Amino acid sequence: MDVTVIGAGRVGPVLARALRTAGVTTHGPLRRGERIPLAEVALLCVPDREIRDAAAAAAGRARLIGHTSGATPLDDVDFGLHPLQTFTGDEDAEALRGVGAAIAGRDTAAEDAARRLAETLGMRPFVLAAEHRVAYHAAASIASNFVVTLEAAAERLAAGAMPAGQARALLAPLVRSTVENWATLGAASALTGPIARGDDATVDRQRAAVAEAAPELLDLFDVLVAHTRALAAGRDAAP
Ligand SMILES: NC(=O)c1ccc[n+]([C@@H]2O[C@H](COP(=O)([O-])OP(=O)(O)OC[C@H]3O[C@@H](n4cnc5c(N)ncnc54)[C@H](OP(=O)(O)O)[C@@H]3O)[C@@H](O)[C@H]2O)c1
Repeated sequence: MDVTVIGAGRVGPVLARALRTAGVTTHGPLRRGERIPLAEVALLCVPDREIRDAAAAAAGRARLIGHTSGATPLDDVDFGLHPLQTFTGDEDAEALRGVGAAIAGRDTAAEDAARRLAETLGMRPFVLAAEHRVAYHAAASIASNFVVTLEAAAERLAAGAMPAGQARALLAPLVRSTVENWATLGAASALTGPIARGDDATVDRQRAAVAEAAPELLDLFDVLVAHTRALAAGRDAAP
């Protein structure tokens, strides 16, 4: 199949590079307003709110139109192929290899095309049911976006205690090992620290330090302590 990639933001250039490297005839990534060539597939890599207009522009220019959104239903397209990865746009052509691909199709032929595309890129396709789409996307946001929010909070809190400008570099090995342990061992075994050890006195002293150094983080700290205690106790949720 030949593919037109529409949208030249973060995802479009990565997908276009990967498709070309995989030997797929690829047009684009096209910017807004650029002429859309005829192709078998048009793959929309545009913000979710732009999918309807971009699909309308691609109508008649491709046999199948797909989007790369996690949360958006298939109302305006034939298939969805959501890469379960975070991209800034600079990643190389191998960036999709081994990455999960949530696929869905308006019909079997469209789903098959999405699966073929994902497999061509070395991705790991799985079918995402319409009713699970938004929960799936929320899970991806927790796994990626919220981790960044947490690391930004840790960096802010640690900044006063570490050599100037080095908090991120000093915290990064801890973050990487934690994620690797979770991926390999699962959450319960990966959890270390005072809550896992049942050391409430240290948690209380941490809380007082947060209240003093970064009171704006106290809500976050309390919610995370509650959920981490539940995890340590083998429960699904905080009381
Ligand atoms: N970034 C990620 O990590 C990631 C991961 C998985 C899936 N996704 C999905 O990938 C899609 C694109 O996300 P993104 O992060 O790449 O967004 P982005 O960085 O904001 O880039 C979107 C690009 O689409 C262009 N665009 C908007 N409307 C267009 C149109 N009608 N025709 C052609 N180009 C148009 C925008 O151009 P203008 O600047 O001119 O508006 C912009 O360059 C979204 O559905 C997102 O959910 C993103």
